[in-house]
Amino acid sequence: MPHDKLIIFDTTLRDGEQAPGIALTPDEKLAIARQLAKLRVDVIEAGFAAASDGDFYGVSQIARKVKGPVIASLARSLPDDIDRAYDAVRHADRHRIHVFQSTSPIHMERMLRMTPEEVMKSIVESVRRARRYTDDVEFSPQDATRSDPDFMIACCQAAVREGATTINIPDTVGFATPDDYVELLRRVYGEVLGERDDVIVSTHCHNDLGLAVANSLSAIHAGARQIEGAINGIGERAGNTSTEEIIMAVRTRRDHFGVDVAANTEEIVPTSRLVSRLTGYPVQFNKAVVGRNAFAHESGIHQHGVLRDRETYEIMDPISVGATSQIVLGKHSGRAGFGDALSKLGIVLEDEQFAAAFRRFKDVADRKIEINERELRAIIRQEHARSEGTIRMVSMSVSGGSHVTPTSTVRVVRGDGDEVREFTGSGGGMVDATFDALKKAFGLDVKLLDYRVVPVTAGADAMAEVNVVVQVGGSTHGGRAVSTDVVEGSGHAFVEALNRALSAIDG
Ligand code: KIV
Ligand code: ZN
Repeated sequence: MPHDKLIIFDTTLRDGEQAPGIALTPDEKLAIARQLAKLRVDVIEAGFAAASDGDFYGVSQIARKVKGPVIASLARSLPDDIDRAYDAVRHADRHRIHVFQSTSPIHMERMLRMTPEEVMKSIVESVRRARRYTDDVEFSPQDATRSDPDFMIACCQAAVREGATTINIPDTVGFATPDDYVELLRRVYGEVLGERDDVIVSTHCHNDLGLAVANSLSAIHAGARQIEGAINGIGERAGNTSTEEIIMAVRTRRDHFGVDVAANTEEIVPTSRLVSRLTGYPVQFNKAVVGRNAFAHESGIHQHGVLRDRETYEIMDPISVGATSQIVLGKHSGRAGFGDALSKLGIVLEDEQFAAAFRRFKDVADRKIEINERELRAIIRQEHARSEGTIRMVSMSVSGGSHVTPTSTVRVVRGDGDEVREFTGSGGGMVDATFDALKKAFGLDVKLLDYRVVPVTAGADAMAEVNVVVQVGGSTHGGRAVSTDVVEGSGHAFVEALNRALSAIDG
């Protein structure tokens, strides 16, 4: 009989980071890993160490610094990948090597150009090699749900014989339905594990048909005791199973699933926000558990019911997932009110940072009637990012009109200096013109890969968060900023990304 503990394996930093346009720095990955440890997930897949030097550094930094969860690295079934994965995770108190190899006909023939015999041999050798390094080895037959089940199961049996301790069944392309997936997992549970209770069966589902969470949960009844997911469901294409939805489903419907998780659910919303902010991927308003409307009641009947008794329309307590109460500040709020709001959000600033953040807050409050918690967080983030920059944009002015080429003039200061220099650019629109001026200010050859504007709050005077991803000399860098003015916010986000590019070049 499988036990009643469900292992949460979070792959936000590996599969999640593979989503298009996400470019996390090693420090941003570390910040997310620390937050995942606070959320008390059991395993953090910190990256794919062999993918690049940056990935290797990101994984090894997390392995050294994040305590609590097992730290895993992905590895192809190649000797160098496995060696590199171990090198990256070996400093963690508990570490895992996650080896994968494709087992479906289409992957073996078209992608790997390997015969099933060669695939089987590579699995045996890889798991054996990984086991020489650690006794915690996971094996995944990639594209398992489109594989010949007999061959896929034979590969998993071989992996277990070589010492794999977790067998993960990926629905790599999101093809399975709950019924198929349960049937397959039942076979894996019966034929691969047999009598062994020291091996765990795991799920890894993609969301191409919107079934990732349903498929993962259905597998619990087939004996799966590990679920892999990513915060906010980010990942390749339509993404992965949402870690937070799994946690809350098994907590809320323990009567149905009969398993529990170690997670500290109150850290769910802070984790979701951090991931959204650092990846630049907005959370859909009506997203289960973490969407901004997840606990909002609009109709009079619903509001009336909830006021009488929250449980009339809420199956989860918002406080249990860390959805905090609203804080609202305005232009009359002083330093004390501002400081009090920051401490309620758990934000501690040094005197100088506090003064700069307060100045920025006053600047925004002059243009906006109310500033809520989300906007306040956004202001603090921006100040923080700005103080880290090596070139600061002190002001900008734009001009344009229906028949005039838009131009933008930016004034910048380099480092701690006080010499203000001015650059003018032009373009197809005011944002484009501002980017052109800033490219001149930084003297860099820049390609804009991604540009997104996301409203932080609703309303005509709402603040918007701007995310940009740029490519400079082959590497990508992200920048973010918030402002009530999209052009100004775009300029600051671009400056942040270019400063990162500069420090990568200098460093
Ligand atoms: O989706 C997938 O198959 C994967 C594997 C590498 C586990 O992400
Ligand atoms: Zn995947």
